[in-house]
Amino acid sequence: MTKISNTDKHPTRANKSQNEDVLSMESLKSLDEFESLATKQISKKAWSFNYAAAGDLISKRLDQEVYRSILLRPRILVNVKECDLSTTIVGQRVGLPIFVSPMAMARLAHPTGEAGISAACGVFGAMHIISNNASMTPEEIVAGAAPEQVFGFQLYVQTDRTESEAVLARINKLSAIKCIVLTVDEPVQGKHELGPRGFEPYDDAQTEVPTQPEEPSQPGTDIKVAIPSVSGPASDAEWEITLQWLAKHSSLPIIIKGIQTYEDAEIAATYAHVKGIILSNHGGRVLDTAPPAIHTLLEIRKYSPEVLEKLDVMVDGGIRRGTDVVKALCLGARAVGIGRPAFWGLGAGGIAGVERTLQRNENLHELVRCAESRRSGNTPC
Ligand SMILES: Cc1cc2nc3c(=O)[nH]c(=O)nc-3n(C[C@H](O)[C@H](O)[C@H](O)COP(=O)(O)O)c2cc1C
Repeated sequence: MTKISNTDKHPTRANKSQNEDVLSMESLKSLDEFESLATKQISKKAWSFNYAAAGDLISKRLDQEVYRSILLRPRILVNVKECDLSTTIVGQRVGLPIFVSPMAMARLAHPTGEAGISAACGVFGAMHIISNNASMTPEEIVAGAAPEQVFGFQLYVQTDRTESEAVLARINKLSAIKCIVLTVDEPVQGKHELGPRGFEPYDDAQTEVPTQPEEPSQPGTDIKVAIPSVSGPASDAEWEITLQWLAKHSSLPIIIKGIQTYEDAEIAATYAHVKGIILSNHGGRVLDTAPPAIHTLLEIRKYSPEVLEKLDVMVDGGIRRGTDVVKALCLGARAVGIGRPAFWGLGAGGIAGVERTLQRNENLHELVRCAESRRSGNTPC
């Protein structure tokens, strides 16, 4: 990881008011508060980039609302004094059942960028999935990681496959990276029509990767994708040929990200080197009205529960509370991913902001009660 000084941990931003300066991360109580603070501190460009979603933002909103509509069935008189939140993801021990989903362009939020997210993940032993479109190279991001820290690398297959092969060759040399996360839910880019809150729509709203930010978050720094795409993301990828090709260029376990139906979960489970799936609608950024991951998880439970035995099934999208984590785990997810909250956390307070974000999501008692109840065969929600 790139060396990060203490001053980076509590950066003084030019557009930060005095009041915000004294507001410590500890005083922030919910992820909504991080979003509000980051919104005041980061550039419009960075805000729009993270906030945006496709079409009418129906999937983005539903991702969050769906968790509120699921009620818990709390079991009582369970000993929650000692808690172990660790779990495994594709065979790797991690400290939390919460990981950071791949997020492009983190340096738009804060100069520490993806290395800052990783530093915070390191505190909890949480997995960080590095985006193919990160603003720092994978080598820079993993360079200072703790010895046991677990990373995944997210791949967008490029039209010219040799581009992706070159990236995989680089990843193969990084022992901290334990899995390849193949994102499959964006064969074409989502259509963003952003212009809310009185902000003018920004030019790059329809591209997920702004390469020329109007307001770099660090003066003089050119923030762009560290591994630029030359031929463009592939729109011709298909199951068999893509997974065979990938297995030829990486021996790491594969996690497929962007599964949205039980039928596709079943297909994924037929490939030996696919060890996990992330049920995801890309935070509602690609195909508006695509289902929230929890709906897909319920489909899998109903129509193909064997997939939950064969694969590590994870979810992301809309996780904003510890209780959301609990609900997903109770319904069979191995772990949950957070996307935008990591970016807001970074924008609100750099590494300390992402640390606090992961902490706020960690609802110890509920998690343990859930885990205990699952062990004893009861489902608390
Ligand atoms: C700003 C932004 C950038 C993203 N970049 C990527 C990416 O590069 N690769 C990817 O697979 N998903 C990407 N995603 C989707 C996230 O990995 C994740 O699926 C989604 O954000 C989860 O929803 P949440 O933001 O409600 O937590 C991005 C999402 C956002 C908001």
